[in-house]
Amino acid sequence: TISDVKAREVLDSRGNPTVEVDVALSDGTVGRALVPSGASTGANEALELRDGDASRFRGRGVLQPIENIDKHIKPAVLGMSTLDQVALDNLLIEIDGTPNKSKLGANAILGVSMAAARAAAQSEGKPLYERISGDGALTLPVPMLNIINGGAHAAGSTDFQEFMVVPAGFDTFREALRAGVEIYHALADALRERGLSTSVGDEGGFAPALPDNQDAVALVIEAIERAKYRPGEQCFIALDVAASELSGDDYPADKLIGIYKDWVDNYPVVSIEDGIAEDDWDNWSVMADAIGGRAQLVGDDLYTTNTELIRKGIAMNAGNAVLIKLNQIGTVTETLNAVKMTQNAGWGVVISHRSGETEDTTIADLAVGTNAGQIKSGAPARGERTAKYNRLLRIEEELGGRAQFAGRQVYEHYLS
Ligand code: PGA
Ligand code: ZN
Repeated sequence: TISDVKAREVLDSRGNPTVEVDVALSDGTVGRALVPSGASTGANEALELRDGDASRFRGRGVLQPIENIDKHIKPAVLGMSTLDQVALDNLLIEIDGTPNKSKLGANAILGVSMAAARAAAQSEGKPLYERISGDGALTLPVPMLNIINGGAHAAGSTDFQEFMVVPAGFDTFREALRAGVEIYHALADALRERGLSTSVGDEGGFAPALPDNQDAVALVIEAIERAKYRPGEQCFIALDVAASELSGDDYPADKLIGIYKDWVDNYPVVSIEDGIAEDDWDNWSVMADAIGGRAQLVGDDLYTTNTELIRKGIAMNAGNAVLIKLNQIGTVTETLNAVKMTQNAGWGVVISHRSGETEDTTIADLAVGTNAGQIKSGAPARGERTAKYNRLLRIEEELGGRAQFAGRQVYEHYLS
């Protein structure tokens, strides 16, 4: 049972304060979790509570959510068992009482929820992924490595937010990650040769000043070839357009869909995230009708890990995959429900980091424990990104002969 809850203000990868929580149990185990933070957030995300006191951290302090943990959450959960995550999360939702967790803050609630999950796993002597999976299968996800950063994550780079390399055509996670790393370095060579910057953006990818989004796609293909891998067979491309951040004048939906059709025809693009803005449900269906058989169409800002919105999207055929971010919804249980609903519809699942991250590695365990098949954790650079990939390397080693790599099968439907 929970014997103590301690929250503190620590830093994320952008140098902003964030919430860290320690949940201590009566058997002496302690679970710790740190909460990430987005920049290109969806309008329907659960609320990230910040102090707004301009005299501290430019208003971005998190003393208020920490006080909420001390005053409202801690007294309610002391003595509770962490083994019933559903009961704990339901209680947190109930204490908050708002639809978007705006009273206590989703950063307060998620910190406690994740730390409790970790404490429960430790107390049972299990790795977190195994506690999440129950008796289910354990699959290592295909990494989607964001090697060119643009949009809200890198000023002066491309308009589209993320250009990812997807090393799916390998037998193990370790080999796939190695390919991703070699391609990342080959891309640096290609940029240097052209006199372009190799400085990196928030997610560790390069942020060169390129005249056109398409130049970024061409550069990723060049990098795959330079690293001696086969594009379209071993390595593929995924995009996160983050269309809600684009100007509708420059990028109307019909123009965007035209670009995607062209790219899907001419490049090994297997996945397009947020190809259409989050308030434009009808054009999501238009896009899905046009290219949904040839590419995974992932909703991030559209769904915000919210089962009500995912249910609507499945009914409307608005895409065919969902991006999953714990802090968009605010508890472990609701996140697992969103994954289940998506998988039951036969849709793809991508477990994701945020652009503001920490050394917390929960998403690696979440990806394995849910058999999600795909994970987005940025470039293979910057400690907060590699922490997740390194955790997956350790999990693969730990599983030994039981380890399965999701591999090309994830995209088989779009490749034939
Ligand atoms: P964010 O971006 O964490 O800044 O919201 C990540 C994404 O859009 O997938
Ligand atoms: Zn996104």
